[in-house]
Amino acid sequence: EKNGYEHFMLKEIHEQPRSIKDSMRGRIYPLDGRVELGGLKEYAEKLKNIKRIIIVSCGTSWHAGLIAEYLFEKYARIPVEVEYASEFRYRNPIIDKSDLVIAISQSGETADTLAALSIAGLKGATLFGVCNVVGSSIPRMTHAGVYTHAGPEIGVASTKAFTSQVTVLTLMALYVAQQRDVLSKQKMQELLTELEKLPDLVETTLKCEDNVKKIAGIIKNANNCIFLGRGSAFPVALEGALKLKEISYIHAEGYPAAEMKHGPIALIDEQMPVVFIATNHSSYEKVISNIQEVKARKGMVISVISEGDLKVKAMSDHTIEIPVTNELLLPVLASIPLQLLAYHIAVMRNCNVDQPRNLAKSVTVE
Ligand code: F6R
Repeated sequence: EKNGYEHFMLKEIHEQPRSIKDSMRGRIYPLDGRVELGGLKEYAEKLKNIKRIIIVSCGTSWHAGLIAEYLFEKYARIPVEVEYASEFRYRNPIIDKSDLVIAISQSGETADTLAALSIAGLKGATLFGVCNVVGSSIPRMTHAGVYTHAGPEIGVASTKAFTSQVTVLTLMALYVAQQRDVLSKQKMQELLTELEKLPDLVETTLKCEDNVKKIAGIIKNANNCIFLGRGSAFPVALEGALKLKEISYIHAEGYPAAEMKHGPIALIDEQMPVVFIATNHSSYEKVISNIQEVKARKGMVISVISEGDLKVKAMSDHTIEIPVTNELLLPVLASIPLQLLAYHIAVMRNCNVDQPRNLAKSVTVE
């Protein structure tokens, strides 16, 4: 049941330190600098010769795929394409035996994702699944896969399943890197040591809730909201916007921060909350210029920052701090405050948080 929480969504948000731990359990060996993914073992050799990875999924799972694109390319140095399953399946996709197709799906039953996989299978690609529901259709039709082990997700808006997908995809990126021998043992040890801290860091991040609630109270009556990030924080921005749309019914858009000046900046005025992911990582200085562009047009800036960052704090109207960490952990950690923001705004607007209108947990129609 809800374990004392008002909604399943809130319970599932707070379960994340544990669900993420379960996603990593028995899979990482920081001292040896090794990742073990039992479900992929038989295909370990094959990974050496894969020329390209194509990820197919829908909705929140598609956002996890976009994050994975950054991780696979950065750590495993393999080209990745991320496709909406519904688009991929209808355009006679160009794929062959040297491609690896990864389907990401919480339910393992999404009709478009299933159809995309079967087309890729007919063309001879190797098929992997990243699913949460054990024994569902996608794991049954793929050659191999990795379960997320996030536990049952009841809230229609995906939270813990998403962060577990990102966790597992991070492990897969490092696993592929290991099979292809593109990272030094020392680098693997360093990254896995960081990754092992993720559940505790999620726990620490959840302490932002009271602060996020205050910010929710300030922007709850907005009609629109923009989310911006760069690099692996760009898909996090997309996911923050989707969460807000689906449960609070506020129109929201996510963009790569630099794209704003190519159109969306026209929307900025005093009424427009703009949520930046502005942590102290690779594109820090660039994001700072984007914040200045929004402030110059009187937008209300809410920034997710690395703890103790006074510089971004001074130029933002409101800030939410997350722990200082390796960039590898950024997508999961930065997602937590955005989940809480959407949740508290939706509650304040009296929305049905666990069962938003027009939505179903598993989309088995095309
Ligand atoms: C949003 C959400 C949906 C699903 C999408 C795919 O919170 O839950 O966007 O992510 O319908 O579902 P799965 O992952 O079951 O294939």
